[in-house]
Amino acid sequence: MKILAINGSHRKGRNTTTLLRMVLDEAAVQGAATELLELSDLNIKFCTSCNKCLNRSQCSIPDDDMAIVEKKLLAADGILLGSPVYWVNVTTLMKNFMDRSRYLHIYKNLLDGKVGAAVTTAGLLYGGQEATLKVMEYYLQLQGLHVVDSRDPNEVIKTVIAAGSLMEGVKDDKMIFRRTAIEDELLVASSKQLARNMVKLIRQLKK
Ligand SMILES: Cc1cc2nc3c(=O)[nH]c(=O)nc-3n(C[C@H](O)[C@H](O)[C@H](O)COP(=O)(O)O)c2cc1C
Repeated sequence: MKILAINGSHRKGRNTTTLLRMVLDEAAVQGAATELLELSDLNIKFCTSCNKCLNRSQCSIPDDDMAIVEKKLLAADGILLGSPVYWVNVTTLMKNFMDRSRYLHIYKNLLDGKVGAAVTTAGLLYGGQEATLKVMEYYLQLQGLHVVDSRDPNEVIKTVIAAGSLMEGVKDDKMIFRRTAIEDELLVASSKQLARNMVKLIRQLKK
């Protein structure tokens, strides 16, 4: 069982990387083979809207790193997307990846039946995490994936999303910030549960 994480952060190795690694580590504990792909390491050109993918499962841009991503997406059983919130939305890198992967679903749905999930971090406490997460989850659904959330079915519900913030709160009119987003214990708990839910569903679907 393989789970591929794709990080849309423009800053490799920071909050979103740490969060994705945490989910992957828990997935590995549950028995999955894992890989983290940093979009900031790759050269992926913009979609030109040539619309050739309406008639074939192939992109007309031949000479960039989308081929590497395609290979990994097709080989994965689970796809985990991570993006920091940029303007209450995903980052440019994440959106560009989404646009360029249109050819994987529009003619034939090549990722159909895999398991998907998404995580996000933001600067502010209520900084647009839910909207950002929804953009990634809608994308995964449209690509034909079964999207899992971070609910622990055996416990009282604590959170419905795997999303965090650097901001912890406000005291004496001053904002209090964490050093990293994963100092948020609810984010840690929900992200680890997300990993367990992904692995569980992949196992069920493989039976
Ligand atoms: C261009 C830009 C836009 C941002 N927009 C928001 C925003 O709308 N809401 C928010 O809470 N944080 C926003 N942030 C803060 C980031 O979400 C936050 O710093 C995040 O933890 C960065 O993730 P990283 O450490 O993986 O880069 C923005 C940051 C940048 C650079």
